[in-house]
Amino acid sequence: MSFYKSHLFICNNRKPGGKNCCGSYSTDDLIAYAKRRAKELGMTKDKGFRVSSSGCMGRCKSGPVIVEYPSGKWFKCSTEDAIDRILHSILQVHQSSTIKLRAKIVED
Ligand code: FES
Repeated sequence: MSFYKSHLFICNNRKPGGKNCCGSYSTDDLIAYAKRRAKELGMTKDKGFRVSSSGCMGRCKSGPVIVEYPSGKWFKCSTEDAIDRILHSILQVHQSSTIKLRAKIVED
């Protein structure tokens, strides 16, 4: 079992010489936004959610990239709206599993 229910890694790596990299897309601002929105949505560390910045994850040409664990899903994300969609989709997955678990407990 993973330590967090959901852990988002947002790449903000910067490469010298104008090479393709996630850090050239204002990713510091996106990370700050993602952390703030996650907190507003109740997706806090004590509830099993975490948003972190990361170094290069080897998918620079697709950047800026986000990966979510434990699902291993990758996202291309360069706007606050996209961050909101990702956070809501993660929240929805975890809310529906909680509802299923509660339903199973009631059935048992
Ligand atoms: S710079 Fe982000 S994946 Fe390489």
